Amino acid sequence: MAEITKPLAWWKTMAVYQIWPRSFFDGNGDGIGDLWGVLQKLDYIKSLGVDAIWFSPLYPTPNADYGYDIADYRGIAEDYGTLELFQKVLAEAHDRGLKVIMDLVINHTSDEHEWFQKSKDVNSPYHDYYYWRKGNGKKPPNNWKSVFEGSAWVRAEETGEYYLHIFAKKQPDLNMSNPKVREEVKDVMRFWLEMGVDGFREDVITYIAKDEGLPNGIPLPVGAGLEHYTSRPAVKDYLREFRDDVLRRYDAFTVGEAPMMTPKLAKKYITEGGDQLLNLMFHFQHMEADCFLTDFIPTRFHLKKLKKALGTWQREMRGVAWNALYLENHDHPRIISRYGSEKYRVESGKTLAAMYLLQSGTPFIYQGQEIGMTNIRMSSMDQFKDVLTFNSQKLYAMFGIKGDRYLRIANRCSRENARTPMQWNNAPNGGFSEADPWFRVNPNYTEINAEDAEADPNSLLHWYRALLKFRKDNPLILLGDYKEYYKNSRNLYVYERAHEGKKLLVICSFSEKPQRVSAPDGWDFAQAVQVFGNYAKPAAQTNRFTTQPYECRVYAG
Ligand code: GLC
Ligand code: CA
Repeated sequence: MAEITKPLAWWKTMAVYQIWPRSFFDGNGDGIGDLWGVLQKLDYIKSLGVDAIWFSPLYPTPNADYGYDIADYRGIAEDYGTLELFQKVLAEAHDRGLKVIMDLVINHTSDEHEWFQKSKDVNSPYHDYYYWRKGNGKKPPNNWKSVFEGSAWVRAEETGEYYLHIFAKKQPDLNMSNPKVREEVKDVMRFWLEMGVDGFREDVITYIAKDEGLPNGIPLPVGAGLEHYTSRPAVKDYLREFRDDVLRRYDAFTVGEAPMMTPKLAKKYITEGGDQLLNLMFHFQHMEADCFLTDFIPTRFHLKKLKKALGTWQREMRGVAWNALYLENHDHPRIISRYGSEKYRVESGKTLAAMYLLQSGTPFIYQGQEIGMTNIRMSSMDQFKDVLTFNSQKLYAMFGIKGDRYLRIANRCSRENARTPMQWNNAPNGGFSEADPWFRVNPNYTEINAEDAEADPNSLLHWYRALLKFRKDNPLILLGDYKEYYKNSRNLYVYERAHEGKKLLVICSFSEKPQRVSAPDGWDFAQAVQVFGNYAKPAAQTNRFTTQPYECRVYAG
């Protein structure tokens, strides 16, 4: 195939592997994943054909939100190692040609961060680092509700004032309108960039500006006030300042996490040339094909919703901005359990992988996704650990949904499904640790693990490798047009990519039941080359066929 003619920025041609460190690999035998473990698995990561690692937070933390509550932006949590060890991981990753992306959580800190401790003194310059406000009589300053824990305000005994927390109580929001806070953020960025890291994934970045005066929001049981802190105009000013003062001096990469993001709004942040504020944006629209706004309000899976979200972003960003492609991360249940089928685990896992990896953009793969890990089934609520799972339990209880009924919901919807230890082999604890792991290992590790997948040429693991290699060899995946067929089908996702006379047709069935497919205009399957298929190749290629469960075929022409 043709060489990529126009040189693309490095972050456009990369694929990223996300590590959620606590559950990746335990290298020092205390039951908790760590950087010693990462060091041992760098060759494995490299072998996937990815180009970068994104680390979910590694910093010191009391773990109220498993690292997304940072107590020190310039350190490494003892559980994970030391700063020296991190530097070794960084150097070894770089030696292997892997970039390293850090998670930057600046909407909030931990309440155990020194700044917050000092901010409780009303006379300290740190007081204005956070949103401290006097109450409204006996009530909090406004009606905002946290997305994790009740009211968005906690009253501190020390001062009688309230502090704002959009997330957990132990995650006070930083006051980004204070220029001193922005200087601190820039210093933190410089600290890691000087050390050699290659960029940042910026946590809930569209929340970092709050409307002046913190006005009351539309009363909602959860997230009230969000219209006053989501994508407010000042976010762009802050991002511009970070870009101009720091990021562009290092050629640093950025991907912003943005709940409720739409293509139209995203273009204001990621349109190329001119005033581009972020390289990529993680939107959530394609993660809502089996739920209503949040994973915790589940619905039936609608393939048409998925196609619409993915297709819209493919079309809207074309020639304007660059897509971030993902199906899993540490905040969502496993994709096979959601959009695929545990019964047809490998088949549907392959279909899902081809579906998103053959689209234009920068792909992200979450640990365990490449071996097809699935949701866990907990037998009681005390097996869960996450603040969000328990907050949802309280909200459901308000509607009378309790006990086993809520347990079923938690099993389906909790992001903890993505946080069970990585399944490396069929030794006890899935080979994750020799000690008792900090969190339950999915008992299916005896069948689903990296070692067995390595040994099986038809495994999902090898499929991921082949797809990632295929992306590298075929510029049409990054640069080609995108066109859908069978748009109204509830079971088939069929799209074509075309670039400089080359074409690719991706056919994905999302059903157990046979689906009839016929070659679209301009395609002759007898002439085309079938480059991928998750079932044995047909003896003779015909222009009509009936799919097997979750069948995927990719033709090149
Ligand atoms: C982001 C993170 C999530 C965290 C939240 C609060 O959504 O991905 O894990 O709980 O922000 O920091
Ligand atoms: Ca450990």
